[in-house]
Amino acid sequence: MRGLVGGLMRARWALRSARSWLRVRYVWLKPRPGDIYIATAAKAGTTWMQQIVFQLIHEGRGEFEHILQVSPFLEQFGTKPQAEQVLARLPSPRIFKTHLSHGLLRPPANSRVIYVTRAASDTLVSYYHHVCRAHGAHLDFDQFFQREMKNRGWSSHLRSWWPNRRAPNVLHVRYEDLVTDRERELRRVATFLALPLPPERLPDILEKTSFEYMKRHNARFAPPMPGGLSAEGFIREGKVGSGRDALDAGQQVLLERTLAPLFRELGITGNEV
Ligand code: A3P
Repeated sequence: MRGLVGGLMRARWALRSARSWLRVRYVWLKPRPGDIYIATAAKAGTTWMQQIVFQLIHEGRGEFEHILQVSPFLEQFGTKPQAEQVLARLPSPRIFKTHLSHGLLRPPANSRVIYVTRAASDTLVSYYHHVCRAHGAHLDFDQFFQREMKNRGWSSHLRSWWPNRRAPNVLHVRYEDLVTDRERELRRVATFLALPLPPERLPDILEKTSFEYMKRHNARFAPPMPGGLSAEGFIREGKVGSGRDALDAGQQVLLERTLAPLFRELGITGNEV
């Protein structure tokens, strides 16, 4: 009985959220040519890409109190007062962060989408730390892990976006490639957005998009936490592979088993994501 009630409540929440997102996307947004969407599963490096795009546009001189002022989270307009007007006042090119599936966002052909992926294990562990911060408590990792294996947020995002990653208005960027060669990936993003990248501005852009700079200015990047909880450590570790090391053998097997059918369906190996 408790399971049924829980299921109904989740279904009601999902329905409400979908209704709110659809209203934002199809009623209030009024797409403009050149709008930029940064489309990611949670914890895949969304904020990093927001900063990269903003600094490329402003040639490394971009300043703000908080990143969400210059690159808002599309889904949050669902509960923002005067959302339609606020969206209309944003200067072009608008840079939106979004975790919506491809099917819900349906990015217009004249928009630009930067689709960022990150390995499931790193994303999962990053998300665990995020949820602990949001609760102001150290949660049991295994319980969290088992629940996420059922929720399948990462998988459903991949299932919806991966087949669209080569559309003419989509650029796929891997978090891992950003860590390995940020300059090369910055150039890819600049070319995709048709932005100049003057050699004399490159050092400032590289500095402002570095892990060290963003960690030093954590408060400008961390999302507001409920009940005044600290968002310290939002720019946390920025590593590749440490998520997998954090899983025990049983969790690694379960993760692989959970993802194997999806990778088969998409015709990929996990390494390509
Ligand atoms: P970790 O928790 O693994 O460190 P999102 O913005 O999608 O919520 O993603 C947050 C993750 O991106 C965090 O991962 C954070 O540290 C990482 N990140 C943010 N800025 C980064 C940067 N400049 N370099 C490397 N990783 C960065």
